[in-house]
Amino acid sequence: MNRKDFGDDFYWGISNAAYQVEGANTAEGKGLSIWDVFTQKRNKIFKGHNGDIACDYYNKFTDDIYLIYQSNIPNYRFSISWSRIFPEGIGQINYKGIDFYNRVIEFCLELGIEPWITLYHWDLPEALQKKGGWTNRDVVQWFNEYVACCIKNFGDRVSKWIVLNEPMVFTGAGYFLGVHAPGKKGLTNFLAAAHHAALCQSSGGRTIRSLQSQSFIGTSFSHSHLEPFRKDDKKDQMAKIKVDALINRLFIEPLLGLGYPVKDLPILNRMEKYILADDMQDLKFDMDFVGIQVYTRELIKHAPLIPFVQANIVKASDRFVHHTIMNWEVFPNSIYEAVKRINEYKGVKQIIVTENGAAFDDVLYNNTISDTLRKDYLKNHLNKLLKAKNEGIKVNGYFVWTLTDNFEWAEGYNPKFGLVHVDFLTQKRTIKDSGKWYKDFLS
Ligand code: GAL
Repeated sequence: MNRKDFGDDFYWGISNAAYQVEGANTAEGKGLSIWDVFTQKRNKIFKGHNGDIACDYYNKFTDDIYLIYQSNIPNYRFSISWSRIFPEGIGQINYKGIDFYNRVIEFCLELGIEPWITLYHWDLPEALQKKGGWTNRDVVQWFNEYVACCIKNFGDRVSKWIVLNEPMVFTGAGYFLGVHAPGKKGLTNFLAAAHHAALCQSSGGRTIRSLQSQSFIGTSFSHSHLEPFRKDDKKDQMAKIKVDALINRLFIEPLLGLGYPVKDLPILNRMEKYILADDMQDLKFDMDFVGIQVYTRELIKHAPLIPFVQANIVKASDRFVHHTIMNWEVFPNSIYEAVKRINEYKGVKQIIVTENGAAFDDVLYNNTISDTLRKDYLKNHLNKLLKAKNEGIKVNGYFVWTLTDNFEWAEGYNPKFGLVHVDFLTQKRTIKDSGKWYKDFLS
């Protein structure tokens, strides 16, 4: 397998996200985000870690983008911190924030790297959370004001946009389970947040298209390949269908005009009270591409005591299969199954894998990190992606998660996903063997 097998117009890239790398969380007029606040709470994050400094990317972005250049990576996906631009979420613009992203964009372009901007990668301004955040329907106006500001300020040089990063994860973990910012729990919070996020993904797309004619617009979904734990067990099969409706279908289907998957997950009927007259129509938008982020497969078991889905994920460690530090099974075929599945939806024009990668224990020895497991993980996933491409599936891009080791949300700095190692005491970067491999692959 080599790069050419994927065709000349295939997008090769690398992804990261503002809160996970930038640091400088109150620098030059930036307002607090929900992650700045959530990480200060007790017992929420592994060892009390936070993103106050992270990879100090705010000050070191030229070094990091230069690493992307040296690694032959032509596309770079990063996110904008909403509260760096609007410290209060809406209203007054912080021009120092705009200036920062202008410098990032310009440096990419100078080096011939195409910037892909994720407009929302989980760091809602805290000022908006005080008004209910994603549970408040006004978020649709707030978000579109912010999106319009980004297009007006950066749209003369950026045409690749990802509206939301993994709405299922930020609404599920942040508003149902309470394990991510803002730490809210319960079905009511979740269903309201989910519907408003779904409205934002389509209306955000419309805002971009109305302001920029040459844009290439997508939005990114988490996607895990699911199987019943006991293949022939009817209850496990049912459990799998429900979990699938929740974690894989909830956001893409309304976008494609199919509505919410209420038939397979009746609890979603309770969303009705948030749905206004024209909403089902407004949830639709014809994206130029669908971004999917694939890491693993999950086996689903019937679990009568679990509310709403009556299902459980059987952890990889309990199944004694090869897994990463995140306890995610290493199962390369999941990427094939995922793109194949998304490809079956009518109306999907192009699929781009906007994240794929793995966290393993890295050992720095003699200035070298021989991360064979990560290298194999990437190679094996790419092989399966090529198989899909060769079968005619419309997949047209692959972005590795991620450039540098960084703040992995509730897991703090423990899991390391980077192609580049970071010593968080000195901020020294060391390219891992996986990074060298990706560079050679792309050369
Ligand atoms: C995704 C997320 C990224 C990163 C990655 C690895 O869900 O978009 O920010 O954390 O998972 O866990």
